Amino acid sequence: MRLRKGKRQKADDRPGAEHRPEVPAATPGLAVELRGVRRQYGRGAGAVHALAGIDLALPRGTFTAVMGPSGSGKSTFLQCAAGLDRPSAGSVRLGGTEITGMSENELTELRRSRLGFVFQAFNLLPSLTVEQNVLLPMRLAGQRQDRGRAATVLAQVGLADKARRRPGELSGGQQQRVAVARALVTAPDVIFADEPTGALDTGTAAEVLGLLRHAVDTLGATVVMVTHDPAAAAWADRVLFLADGAFADHLERGSAERIAARMTALTGRARTMAGAGAGAGAGVAA
Ligand SMILES: Nc1ncnc2c1ncn2[C@@H]1O[C@H](COP(=O)(O)OP(=O)(O)O)[C@@H](O)[C@H]1O
Ligand SMILES: [Mg+2]
Repeated sequence: MRLRKGKRQKADDRPGAEHRPEVPAATPGLAVELRGVRRQYGRGAGAVHALAGIDLALPRGTFTAVMGPSGSGKSTFLQCAAGLDRPSAGSVRLGGTEITGMSENELTELRRSRLGFVFQAFNLLPSLTVEQNVLLPMRLAGQRQDRGRAATVLAQVGLADKARRRPGELSGGQQQRVAVARALVTAPDVIFADEPTGALDTGTAAEVLGLLRHAVDTLGATVVMVTHDPAAAAWADRVLFLADGAFADHLERGSAERIAARMTALTGRARTMAGAGAGAGAGVAA
């Protein structure tokens, strides 16, 4: 009883706990759950509300794209959702686990074992072979490096014959496919992708997006992808549009044209508001 009380006390010391006297129970089947997530930079009149109250529930086995004008909070959203940054308030759950109160070590361990990442710049280690790069998350997590598993995911991304190569010997598209294999290797709860096609030409980008789509449809992966490219976002099941740190709009199974039109509308609105000197958020947070 005492211990439990102590724990509760600790939980309530977390930033934002005053808005959330009782942490809601986790919803089964959700890979990502954000409740009332805020991220503020600075204090007082000069404070920037990078995230102004995000509520989000993404079921397992879904592919979600996040778009928004520059400065709308995309990077902050991804970092808070992936445990790389701490919200000022609110709750983040990954695979049903509340991460908000975790220590740095716990977060690092969670990221290595239960999250996958794909970055714009591939982020492969040049001195390691393709296979060693794919096995890196297991190595860092102190798990047995399962070479059979590496071979499986490399085959899934069409690179079964490249295991012994080094990243420098591969094309950009192939390197990003290695990064996708690395993201898949631990069968993570969620794969976070930050502009995964930003450094690729159109044809190669489509290959990588097709792989992410395939991972969701046939391997049960969950993907959350930040992108500025409507053609990339069109591969997702749904697109969420951020404006001034809040979700302002969404589109289910939108074509690249429809997505681009929504983005244009949103960007125009953001400009108009900035021009009129409107404050952050209130007007657009639908
Ligand atoms: N470290 C920081 N310190 C202060 N303000 C920041 C910081 N990081 C981001 N911001 C501000 O938060 C808002 C959202 O930024 P960001 O998440 O990078 O947007 P996006 O990725 O959509 O361009 C912007 O107004 C940005 O200037
Ligand atoms: Mg950004």
